[in-house]
Amino acid sequence: MLLAHSTWPELEARIARSRTVVVPIGSNEQHGPTGLLGTDWMCPEIIAHHAHATGDLLVAPTFNVGMAQHHLGFPGSISLRPSTMIAALRDWSVSLAGHGFDRIYFLNGHGGNVATIEAAFSEIYSEASWRGERRGFALKLKNWWDLPGVAKLCERLYPTGHGSHATPSEIAVTQFAYPDSIKAANYAPQIAPSGPIREALDFRARYADGRMGSDPGLATPEAGGEIVRLAADGLVSDVRAFASETPV
Ligand code: NI
Repeated sequence: MLLAHSTWPELEARIARSRTVVVPIGSNEQHGPTGLLGTDWMCPEIIAHHAHATGDLLVAPTFNVGMAQHHLGFPGSISLRPSTMIAALRDWSVSLAGHGFDRIYFLNGHGGNVATIEAAFSEIYSEASWRGERRGFALKLKNWWDLPGVAKLCERLYPTGHGSHATPSEIAVTQFAYPDSIKAANYAPQIAPSGPIREALDFRARYADGRMGSDPGLATPEAGGEIVRLAADGLVSDVRAFASETPV
């Protein structure tokens, strides 16, 4: 069930039987010369929407702009500063929890979001801790590449040239979902350099075409489909386990 395609009476009925919601979360940022700017929010959305078609999941709208300050040297990248993102995540979570969702599962597609999402969870839980009250709901963060079996599959598909940004696995997922938007380029070097992440101009100087350690030329829509199906199965079982956690 997609929240955005539902009405409030349908949501009211849903909450009466299930209090768990999945929020795809990512980033809108450059992904090398051939990767779509939406790659990091598209991947968790594609997987969550695929999972909702096969499992009994409620999927919220995608939180599609994240912490991507280091990509701002490339046109089209949009970033929230960490403090803004923490405030937005707090408001999303409290809105959903106010309707009765006491299990909120964030499926993440951008490594640069992780520290900020974790900080947001601490911020949200702190409000209850300071008051000596129970928050009454649980938050969970899962990166899509950490779903059961996905990392192993990506290692098998891409023993070299996977890298950490504009990776063939994430590009393949978008190629599977949006075959009309597949792009090509001559990569030089074929496998991009690796190194640290600092501010935007430093990033652009180190990684001239935006990739980090990757060869996106390895991506195919067929491999993307394999990744999506495995990740969607993992998501259904992971969300089921989260939903059935016994409250203390
Ligand atoms: Ni990415």
